[in-house]
Amino acid sequence: METKILNIDPNNIDIEKILIASDVIKKGGLVAFPTETVYGLGADAFNENAVKKIFIAKGRPNDNPLIVHITEKIDINDIVEYFPENAILLKNKFWPGPLTMILPKSKRIPFVVTGNLNTVAVRMPSHNIAKSLINYSGCPIAAPSANISGKPSPTKAEHVIKDMFGKIDVIIDGGQTDIGLESTVIDLTKDIPIIYRPGKITVEEIEKVIGKVELSPIAKAELRLDNIIAMSPGMKYRHYSPDTPLILYEGEGDKVINAMENDLNVLKNNNKKVALILLDNYIKSDMTIVFNSKDLENIARNIFSTLRELDKYKFDYILVQGVDDQGLGLAIMNRLRKASTNIVKVE
Ligand code: TXA
Ligand code: MG
Repeated sequence: METKILNIDPNNIDIEKILIASDVIKKGGLVAFPTETVYGLGADAFNENAVKKIFIAKGRPNDNPLIVHITEKIDINDIVEYFPENAILLKNKFWPGPLTMILPKSKRIPFVVTGNLNTVAVRMPSHNIAKSLINYSGCPIAAPSANISGKPSPTKAEHVIKDMFGKIDVIIDGGQTDIGLESTVIDLTKDIPIIYRPGKITVEEIEKVIGKVELSPIAKAELRLDNIIAMSPGMKYRHYSPDTPLILYEGEGDKVINAMENDLNVLKNNNKKVALILLDNYIKSDMTIVFNSKDLENIARNIFSTLRELDKYKFDYILVQGVDDQGLGLAIMNRLRKASTNIVKVE
C-alpha cells in the first residue's frame, strides 16, 4: 500500500491537508495522527471494516479494545449508553486532555472497537491536529497508539513511519508529542472507579474531583504478566518493549547507583555492550543518558523515543534507574516495568 506523509504545523493548520486525511477516514481508511500524548492510528469508529484494519496493521490481538476519540462536535450519546455524574465532573475538569473514561457502550459502537466488551473507552484530545481531523471527518475516531503491538508508543512521526509505512493510508507529521505517555485510563462503570493505566492526569488530581478511586494492581505493573487477571484486556500484553533487553533498578538513589555500577562492571567483563539511563549522576558506559529526577515531565516526554533510539545501537542491555512511583512518576514506572525484561529491587 502507498502511504502518504502529510506535514502539518499544529499551530497553523493547513486545512487542505486535513481534508485529504479526513477523506481517507470517511472512505474507511487509516490515518496516523499526533495527539497531545502519543501518535494514534485512527479509523471511523462507526465503520466496522475500517476498525478491523487497525488490528491488522498493528498486529494487535482482537480482544484488546480501542479508545474512541471525540470533540465537542461529536454527540457523546452516540458513543456511550449514559454519561454519569462523575464523568461530567471529570469532563469539565480534564477534557479536552489526556484522560480516557470507560463507560457503558452505545449500540452504535461496533463490538470490534471494544474487543467484545459492553463498555467503551472514550477520550477528547486537546491536540489541534487531532481535533481538526475528527471534526472534518465528522465521526468519532477509534485509535490505539500507532506502534506495532508491543513496541514503545510513537512520540514522533519517524516512529510511526518505522512501524506503519506501507501498511496505512496516511501519516500526519505534526512534530514531537508533548506529554509522551498515553492517557490515564479510568473505569467509571464500577461502584468505586478504577484506574487501569496511570498517566499525566494523576490519581491525586482525579480524587480531588470525584473522591476515592482504586488503583488497579495492573496500574503499578508490579505483577508478573502471568499473574494478571485481565480486567482491562490490553494490560495483560507485554508492552512498550524495546528490542534490547531492559533491566530496571528500583530503590533508594545511592544504593541503586552502586548496584547498577556493579552490574555494569560484570557485564563489561563479559564483553557486553551496555547503555545506561540514569538520574542526576553520570557513569561512563558505551552510552549514558542522564535525566534530571526533578523534571518528570521531561522524562515522560522523552522516555519512549530514548528507548527507540537506543535500539538502533544494538546494545546487549539497557540498564535503567527507576523514578519514585508517585504522581507522574507512577505513569513512568508503569511503562518502564512493562518494558523491562528484569526488575531489580535494591534493598
Ligand atoms: O493517549 C492515549 O490514550 C493514546 C492516544 C492515541 O489517544 N491511545 C492509546 O491507545 O494509548 P491504546 O489502544 O494503545 O491503549 C488503550 C488502552 C488499552 O490498554 C485497552 O486495553 C484499554 O485502553 N481499554 C480500551 N477500552 C477498554 C475497555 N472497554 N475496558 C477496559 N480497558 C479498555
Ligand atoms: Mg498502545
